Formats: sequence, C-alpha cells, structure tokens
Amino acid sequence: MNPTFPTIAVIGAGAMGRGIAQIAAQAGSLVRLVDNQPEASIQAKAALADQWDKLAAKGKLDAAQAQACKDRIQPCTLNDLADCQMVVEAIVERLDVKRSLFAQIEAIVAPSAVLATNTSSLSVTAIAAGLKRPEQLAGFHFFNPVPLMKVVEVIAGLKTDPAVAQALARYAREMGHTPVQAADTPGFIVNHAGRGYNTEALRIVSEGVADFATIDRILRDQVGFKLGPFELMDLTALDVSHPVMESVYNQYYQEPRYRPSVITAQRLAGGVLGRKTGQGFYNYIDGKAQVPAEAPAPEVSDMPPVWVSTRAARRSELLQLLKDLGAKIETGQSPSAQALSLVAPLGFDVTTVAVVERLDPARTVGIDMLIEDAATRRRVLASNPATRADMKAAAHALFARDGKPVSLIRDSGGFVSQRVVATIVNIASDMCQQGICSPADLETAVTLGLGYPLGPLAMGNRWGPTNVLEVLFNMQTVYGDPRYRPSPWLRRRGAIGLSLMQEEN
Ligand code: NAI
Repeated sequence: MNPTFPTIAVIGAGAMGRGIAQIAAQAGSLVRLVDNQPEASIQAKAALADQWDKLAAKGKLDAAQAQACKDRIQPCTLNDLADCQMVVEAIVERLDVKRSLFAQIEAIVAPSAVLATNTSSLSVTAIAAGLKRPEQLAGFHFFNPVPLMKVVEVIAGLKTDPAVAQALARYAREMGHTPVQAADTPGFIVNHAGRGYNTEALRIVSEGVADFATIDRILRDQVGFKLGPFELMDLTALDVSHPVMESVYNQYYQEPRYRPSVITAQRLAGGVLGRKTGQGFYNYIDGKAQVPAEAPAPEVSDMPPVWVSTRAARRSELLQLLKDLGAKIETGQSPSAQALSLVAPLGFDVTTVAVVERLDPARTVGIDMLIEDAATRRRVLASNPATRADMKAAAHALFARDGKPVSLIRDSGGFVSQRVVATIVNIASDMCQQGICSPADLETAVTLGLGYPLGPLAMGNRWGPTNVLEVLFNMQTVYGDPRYRPSPWLRRRGAIGLSLMQEEN
C-alpha cells in the first residue's frame, strides 16, 4: 500500500469522521484523529478497533491487517498535524466554525497540504474564502455510513487547484470508493438529484390523489424503487430530510422545482419524525411499520364492454392485455352507451382527456401505460370526479383478473409514477444542462448514493425521453406550475429522441 497521502488528519470523530478514518487506515494511511471533545477521539479509536475485530472475525481482514489498521489511528490535537499531507474535517455543519478551523490548520500544515471538507450543505467556495491558500481546499463529501456508501463527491470551489481535486479523487479510489466530480452548487450531486422523489410524492399526497401507502406501493411496484418515498422519509427522519429540502430550495433562490412541502414542515414541528420516534407516515410497533391492508378487487358479475381511446399510450399493448384478461372489446369509432371508456394519457388528467375526446366522463377511467405492462408489478387506474362507482369497480375487477395488484387513485395529471419519474428525470437533466457534473457521474452518484434502481438519465431513456417530455409538457398545461417546466437538456433530446446521456456534439 502506497497511498497518495501517507499521513492524514481527520477532524471531528463523530459518525462521519470515524467512517472516513476507517477507510483511510484501511488504505494504509496513518490517521491523526482530532476532536474538540476531550474523550471523543479516544472513544472513536476504541470503536474502530471493535469494528476491525468484527471484520477479522468475519474473515474480511486477517489479524495482522486488523492490528495494522488499529495502529494507524492516533488520537491527537491540532498541534500534532504539521506532517499531514491532507486534512479532512467532519465537524459541526457551521460555516463560521469550519472557516476558523481551516484558518488554524493552514498555519500548522505545509503549504502543499490538501484541505478537505465533508460538508453536505455549505459552499466549498465560502469555506475557503479568507484562507491564505484557498486553492488547497476542496469538498470531499462522503455518505453515511461511510464504509458502506461507496461514493464520494469531490467538489472544486471557485479557486480550487484542479490538482487538489485530482489527488482527492485518486485517494478515494485507493480507499475503495468511487469519486464523482461536482461543481460547487447547492446539494452538489446526490442531494440535488434527490429532490424530485420526495417533493413530488408529497405534492401528490397534498392533492389528495392517493394516500402514503398507495404511493409507496406504486413506486416500488411500477418503477422498482426499493423503498417508497414515505418509507424512505420515515427511515431518514424528517429532522434530517426536511431541512435538506428547505436548504436546497432556498440556496437556489426558491426555484419551484425544489419547493418543499408544508406536510413535512408540520410533521417536523409536531415531532412526527419517522421510525425513530415510533410515528411517522406509518406507525411503528416493535420497530415494524403498520401498513394498512389494500382493498381487495371488487367482485363484478356484469362486466361492461370496453372501448379504448384511439390516442391511448401503448394502445396495441393495452388491447392485447384486455384480450388476455378476457374483456369484451368494442372496436367502433366511439364507445357504445354501455361501454367502459379507457384512456391512457401521458401527463394529462382523465377529466381533460374525456372532455377533449368527447367521452362520457361518468364511464371514463384512465390507466397508466407509460411503462410496458410486463415490466411492472402493479397497474394504476385513475377515475375522474364524475366516474360512476360501477365503472370504477368494473375497471378494477377487470385489470385484477390475472392477480396483478391494482391501485385506484383520484384523477391527477400524470398519475403517480409518471409524475415522480418525470420530475426526477427533469431535475437530473437540468443538472447536466447547468454543467454541475457529467451525465456519467450523475448516474454513478445517484445509483450509489441514493440506491435508485436506475440512474435518473437511464430512467428517462428507459421510459423514453420523448414520453417524459410529453408528460412534463402536458402536466405544465394541467397545473400551470413552473416546477414542471422541462429543462432545455430534456427538451432538446426529447424532441429528437436522443439519449439523455448524450453530451452535445
Ligand atoms: P457528529 O455530530 O456525529 O460528529 C461531529 C464531531 O465533531 C463530534 O464528535 C464533535 O465533538 C466534533 N466537533 C464539533 N466541532 C468541532 C470543532 N470545532 N473542532 C473539532 N471537533 C469538533 O456529526 P457527523 O454526522 O459526523 O457530521 C459531521 C459533518 O459531516 C457535518 O459537517 C455534516 O454536515 C457532514 N456530513 C454528515 C453526514 C451524515 O449523514 N451524518 C453525511 C455527509 C456529511
């Protein structure tokens, strides 16, 4: 082992500092650990020793390697850092405290030493401002828990020497992590790209379109997210996630795409934080979420014939599906007086489609056909305010005939998955448009940092850039809300069917 930085310092021996110290020692660096609480770095050394003993017991390290790692952790004070080639801080998230810490460190270490901050929400440029050598400082943003979250954002501030960012990226690889390069912008990559999922889901709830559990089910089963947005917020806890939503929104001067929700503001104020308080979007008993059972599909003895709009998305696939489910399909220009009319809009609501296509709203139901039926584990139907109960029941029973679960939601431009995916793709596209990172780094950062089933741009390609663009255009018409304004990156690629990963020629 011959690490880029043979001797480093980690300032702040909390959750993040310990994790960084662990992977640095494993990469072969001598780690001087500093904390302003007298016992903290000694406790951290003991906790790390336990950690390495456990890894050795599991056979992931041999006893000699575990001992060598333990020997590389040295609790110290700031005055012991003169020989460090790199200093990374993971102290309290306050600009004034970080600035004064780096001013002290700068006077102790060699002029060539690299200074790194693990800040997740402050500007790297602002932290470096006022230093004698701002070019030596960069962001080095890890995720919790550091040893398991294998991605780190390397952030160059306005004055950072590119060689400093390159050295940190090399060191990240030596630690077994994947570095991604981010411009110094609010939320960097992961916390910026992650704005779409929760905020759009909260907006859907705030409109009364579906409840928390239904939205979680739809996004797990249709898109393949491991956790629904409300399960995820319960796990992260709102005292962490709501301030991040507010911070990114305010740092971007109230950009509508990042607008937080009053739902989480109120829950935070009321202490309904999530799993850790026993009550969040779900209630927890013995640590287990209490999930309301789904309503079973209704029994319908007298199934009406079905007519499918000529403008339905994936119309031939939908007709085949109806055939497979044993439906009586009408083939006329317009539905008969008994027929259930099926529409499958992209971005438009069922009500608007019924009016535009001159259908009887009382017999019109919508189905989300953006993703092919075979690729999903759930079907989602939407009624409009006038849809008759017998028509809703018939559609529900029909689409549940092969045992696939069906969710029935209230009318909403874009259903649930279309809205959430289009929002995620749009935010990611705009990050590429702004040059915050390369499309490849965006995908890496989001899949490793957020655990999405696909990177946002790959998700857009999977669903079709042109379709995602159509969803946003139509949602903008339905809602008149600038948050659905398509990014130029998506608009140009979607209009001509180019991959969202494609840089401009
Ligand atoms: P923590 O509260 O677990 O640990 C912070 C440690 O720093 C404590 O031991 C504290 O005594 C020490 N400390 C505070 N001020 C100090 C100072 N002036 N000089 C020396 N030591 C000082 O906090 P955590 O979670 O480890 O976070 C630390 C930093 O990492 C923050 O800047 C945070 O924004 C950033 N971060 C946190 C993540 C997380 O998920 N917890 C993720 C990514 C970044």
